[in-house]
Amino acid sequence: MAILKIARMGHPVLLRQADPVADPGAPEIRRLVADMMETMEDAPGVGLAAPQVFQPLRIFVFRVPGDRTATDPTDSPIGNSVLINPELELIGDDRVLGWEGCLSIPGMRAAVPRARAVRYRGVDCDGNVVTRTVSGFHARVVQHEYDHLDGILYTMRVNDFGLFGFNEELDKAAQGAGR
Ligand code: NI
Repeated sequence: MAILKIARMGHPVLLRQADPVADPGAPEIRRLVADMMETMEDAPGVGLAAPQVFQPLRIFVFRVPGDRTATDPTDSPIGNSVLINPELELIGDDRVLGWEGCLSIPGMRAAVPRARAVRYRGVDCDGNVVTRTVSGFHARVVQHEYDHLDGILYTMRVNDFGLFGFNEELDKAAQGAGR
């Protein structure tokens, strides 16, 4: 396995439509998925899409740690997961703001509006079909990663740039507000 180099915002690979994977069980795809999971854990991050490692393919890996879902009873934690050739359906019209960062935009975060719940479907490297209906942080992570496959970064979803900044400054501001 290997830690992969991550493309940063500004690189064209992050702005293109990714291609479907012809054979999700192919050895090179299995290797890519394993390397993406290792890279995500190393970063550390909760999601990584193939275009972020310079592979314009419709694949992303993600995880939802239990401590991220503790505040939302409808949320569901999940260990390292992969979706290949995913389909995503947003449920309902309500959008909720939540903080997001991206390994391709290091050191920054923003409050991004996302659907509260989504239904998704994809396959893993063994050809198993994965279908889930999820909400909360799980739904947010999947929407963020799915966007990468269509060349969309979270910055393109921000509607209040007063809620976009460097982690260090936002942390300081949040501490200040708490005093
Ligand atoms: Ni990202």
